[in-house]
Amino acid sequence: MSNLVESFIKERKYPFIFTFSALLIWFMILLYANTTTFTTSDPKAFYPDVKVQQPLVQHQHAPPPPLVQDSKDRQELPPKRHEGLLHWEKAFDTNNFSVDWKRCKGVLAADYIPCLDNMKVIKALRTRRHMEHRERHCPNSIRCLLPLPKGYKVPVAWPKSRDMIWYDNVPHPKLVEYKKEQNWVVKSGEYLVFPGGGTQFKDGVNHYTDFIQKTLPTIQWGKNIRVVLDAGCGVASFGGYLLDKNVITMSFAPKDEHEAQIQFALERGIPATLSVIGTQKLTFPDNGFDLIHCARCRVHWDADGGKPLYELNRILRPGGFFAWSATPVYRDDERDQKVWNAMVRVTTEMCWTVVAKTFDSSGIGLVIYQKPTSSSCYEKRKKNNPPICKSSDIKQISWYTKLSSCLIPIPVNGAEKWPASWPNRLTSLPPSLSSESDASDLFDKDTKHWSRIVSDIYMEAPINWSSVRNVMDMNAGYGGFAAALIDLPIWVMNIVPVNRPDTLTVIFDRGLIGLYHDWCESLNTYPRTYDLLHSSFFFKNFNQRCDIVDVVVEIDRILRPDGYVLVQDSMEAIRKLGSILHSLHWSVTLYQNQFLVGRKSFWRPKP
Ligand SMILES: C[S@@+](CC[C@H](N)C(=O)[O-])C[C@H]1O[C@@H](n2cnc3c(N)ncnc32)[C@H](O)[C@@H]1O
Ligand SMILES: *[C@@H]1O[C@H](CO)[C@@H](O)[C@H](O)[C@H]1NC(C)=O
Ligand SMILES: *[C@@H]1O[C@H](CO)[C@@H](O)[C@H](O)[C@H]1NC(C)=O
Repeated sequence: MSNLVESFIKERKYPFIFTFSALLIWFMILLYANTTTFTTSDPKAFYPDVKVQQPLVQHQHAPPPPLVQDSKDRQELPPKRHEGLLHWEKAFDTNNFSVDWKRCKGVLAADYIPCLDNMKVIKALRTRRHMEHRERHCPNSIRCLLPLPKGYKVPVAWPKSRDMIWYDNVPHPKLVEYKKEQNWVVKSGEYLVFPGGGTQFKDGVNHYTDFIQKTLPTIQWGKNIRVVLDAGCGVASFGGYLLDKNVITMSFAPKDEHEAQIQFALERGIPATLSVIGTQKLTFPDNGFDLIHCARCRVHWDADGGKPLYELNRILRPGGFFAWSATPVYRDDERDQKVWNAMVRVTTEMCWTVVAKTFDSSGIGLVIYQKPTSSSCYEKRKKNNPPICKSSDIKQISWYTKLSSCLIPIPVNGAEKWPASWPNRLTSLPPSLSSESDASDLFDKDTKHWSRIVSDIYMEAPINWSSVRNVMDMNAGYGGFAAALIDLPIWVMNIVPVNRPDTLTVIFDRGLIGLYHDWCESLNTYPRTYDLLHSSFFFKNFNQRCDIVDVVVEIDRILRPDGYVLVQDSMEAIRKLGSILHSLHWSVTLYQNQFLVGRKSFWRPKP
């Protein structure tokens, strides 16, 4: 080194040194100027000339979107830079979206669910025999903002919320009386308190889930059994307590006389959705659930020759279990006997086997069925009834599709397709992933991509993660976002939009839950049920079938005041979305030039 300096001086390379230093100083000035522009409070300084290519789009260090998106979106992850936070007014000088927002009217407006409360259509239904009145009947665009219930407060935080929630947030007293004997819910001062009881487990749910595992030791909660469906869930205490055993349960029930049961569940921070076994398929993927549970869930499983059971067969993993606890299992009056005999007939035709049948100490009966792991039994049946579905039936995504009267074929090697034990199944190759050789490579890349985005960007973004419990990923892809958040005390509802590639079975294979949905319509959930909505290059590719303003109205409906949206998107989409949110009095920030973080306020338009 000293030799080098010596030779420099000796050989009189001064002009070189001079030029080099000058260059360095010039570079430093440039760098400084750039930083000040970035943090300046003058929006015009940020946009020296609007006609020139927009500087925000030019930003070099865009993180790559998930691999299921278009590959042209993919770029490199930016270096960490905490200063990359801009308030909306500072980032954009075009706050030109102005709407005269209206407040929704009517006594029920605060709890309005557009597709389930469409009374005009419901009243005109010709029949309600198959729960048609609990199914979706979506109105056209609503374009008004829901009022808050009187006295609404920021919800009780998890984990306390599992046991108690603010009464004023969900002021519905009927279940307190109606299910008094069964210990579902009690009113105590300002709170609704959940003692953990249910119709079939008055003495608490832990005793009941232990009883299931003791009855059939192959069921190992939180190991081989990870993704569960609780049909007709009541206030979802079954799923709420299984969380302790590393089981994630999708709890569902209709909006019916069990007043606000799903609203309670979500206010408690327990995964749940509004749905019904009626005339249509559930919006869950094929072969998804490890176990389905029904405790007196009032579904007529044997109705219509057994179509509701064929639907369970569709969404149950090959080798998966159906745990049924209901009076036909253990009472022998005529009506129960008739139902039991019908169950025996249909389940036998479907090649389900009874793997356990027993009674607990209080005399409550439980039967556990298992779905076959290969189609050999189907071939041996004397009558081909129900038939195996044709491939045209199978290809259709379960979104407004009628219950079918056939059985979906069992994938070859069904027995070997059970996912790895939890938690390994979160990151190991999902059995349902395409068998093409690059699929596993893409999947691994996607997993790594999301764990970097979450740790390097989302954890540093202006979001108070301790106030977040119920999360929704609006276009979940392989569920990488949810997988990367697994160590936080939150849960994610992974939505696969019906016009995107169908990755929902992969999501379930990983031990996560989700739904199909069309974002041009309203979701089957109560207002104010999510703390954070995430999307990745969703608005950019949003189709022309509906208006983005309607999507924002829906986001405003399902998000709690103080809740967040976290959106990565093209600058054009962020600009559009941000200006609409701004008009709703949200606080809107642009993070790292590519991420919009919006926080909903308590503001509502004047009545
Ligand atoms: C007696 S409660 C049992 C609740 C819970 N399983 C327990 O054990 O506490 C009956 C439940 O079934 C639901 N239910 C009734 N008909 C249904 C249907 N067709 N599809 C899904 N759930 C239904 C009700 O909304 C209610 O949550
Ligand atoms: C706002 O301005 C942008 C251009 O800056 C334009 O494309 C958009 O249509 C405008 N929106 C409204 C509601 O005027
Ligand atoms: C974050 O949220 C938690 C839980 O709601 C709250 O206790 C805490 O004060 C919040 N932190 C900040 C910095 O706002």
